[in-house]
Amino acid sequence: MGRILVVDDEPSMRRILASNLRQDHHEIHEASGVEEAQRTLAANDFDVVVTDQRMPDGEGLAVLAAAHENDATLPVIFLTAVASIELAVESMRQGAFDFLTKPFQPEVVRATVRRACERTRLLRENILLKDAVVRLEGASEIYGESAPMQAVRERIARVAPTSATVLITGETGTGKELVARAIHRNSPRASKPFVAVNCAAFTETLLESELFGHEKGAFTGADRQRQGLFEAAHEGTLFLDEAGEMSLAAQAKLLRILTDGQLLRVGSTRPRHVDVRVLVATHRNLEQRVREGLFREDLFYRLAVVPIQIAPLRERREDIAGLSDVFCHQIATDLKMPRRRLSAEALQQLQEYRFPGNLRELRNLIERAYILTSNLEIGPEDLPLAQKETIPGNGNSSRANALAIPLSDSFDLTGLLEGAEKELILRTLNATRGAQAEAARRMGLSRSALAYKLTKYGIRASE
Ligand SMILES: Nc1ncnc2c1ncn2[C@@H]1O[C@H](COP(=O)(O)OP(=O)(O)OP(=O)(O)O)[C@@H](O)[C@H]1O
Ligand SMILES: [Mg+2]
Repeated sequence: MGRILVVDDEPSMRRILASNLRQDHHEIHEASGVEEAQRTLAANDFDVVVTDQRMPDGEGLAVLAAAHENDATLPVIFLTAVASIELAVESMRQGAFDFLTKPFQPEVVRATVRRACERTRLLRENILLKDAVVRLEGASEIYGESAPMQAVRERIARVAPTSATVLITGETGTGKELVARAIHRNSPRASKPFVAVNCAAFTETLLESELFGHEKGAFTGADRQRQGLFEAAHEGTLFLDEAGEMSLAAQAKLLRILTDGQLLRVGSTRPRHVDVRVLVATHRNLEQRVREGLFREDLFYRLAVVPIQIAPLRERREDIAGLSDVFCHQIATDLKMPRRRLSAEALQQLQEYRFPGNLRELRNLIERAYILTSNLEIGPEDLPLAQKETIPGNGNSSRANALAIPLSDSFDLTGLLEGAEKELILRTLNATRGAQAEAARRMGLSRSALAYKLTKYGIRASE
């Protein structure tokens, strides 16, 4: 059963065809000529079109063209009284499904239409399946042709088959979780659980019991014993996001699991064995945390066996065009909207933008433009880079003007403040011609505090 459009200028012909086809429970729509057919085709979806060849207002070939304009796979069957070989050849060449002559034999027409419906069904199913496959891969795909991204993909391919602990670092929105998932998916543990936990989302005690579980009565409120996420991830992968935020007590427990696979639930002295691969991510500089005494050095070395560092987007601008394309495609599919592209000016603006929120920010910007504008081409005016966080040298940097950003958007507070701090330090140093003691005095900092910040931001004396 399908939706069939019957096109013929003779009402009696349409009636006979329709009543014939209804025997197969098709839903029949009629058009009395080329023009009506074109209008109907533009406004409706059909499974099959049956059309006359010569009509007062035009040719069946025009119906075929209109049908294929909307859906190139739509089968069109010609039914003609003045059959000529040339006409048959021409319509088949232009993509007709079949070519039948009048007077027609009802069974032949019905069988042909059934065949055509079946083909449409299979084709559409196939497209849906392919779409689903592309989406699955798409979700997992790590895009970017820049050298740093190629190196990241190579590293993933190398470590995935092992059980090594991996430390993934990068600014917010650079794709740390994406990398972690890719490692798991390409590992022998792929069919086992992947458990992700954001360490920054819990208080110290809660995080410990969340990760390692607890015994009944271990702390107030622990009214029954509970398995932790490590146990839940047994034989799979545990992804510790924002691991730089773990308390020292939690770090000690993690170290024990990493060294001998022994897990201690909170409030228990009986070690349990777990087999879990640990992936760790942080946007912080862990070495720095070690120096500040906030992160265990022995744990850091254990985690940093295989580091994967993801460069911020502004350090791989050559990826912006390709990624914008990928996001345009992903978003069109997600929102079920027609595909849009970026105008040359819009792309240029993105390429000059600083992207404190990295790939997540790029994706959000494009998604927002999809929703808020109806143009098929996204222009610079559709991309609210209001804070104009462009790179120094590309016009006026106003990082120091962090307070001017619109609060309706998500933004990266730490990045913004650090950026402002760095810029103010650079400017002050510039003003004092590099004299650090004077710069420190002007900023109300001790000399050692300034020296620390200079290292933190990688500012060299020459700058
Ligand atoms: N290389 C990439 N190719 C395609 N999409 C990417 C890539 N990197 C990141 N993304 C997309 O950008 C968004 C942010 O990625 P993800 O959540 O992995 O970042 P993150 O580093 O974990 O961020 P945060 O530090 O804020 O947790 C996601 O929508 C992700 O799919
Ligand atoms: Mg993340």
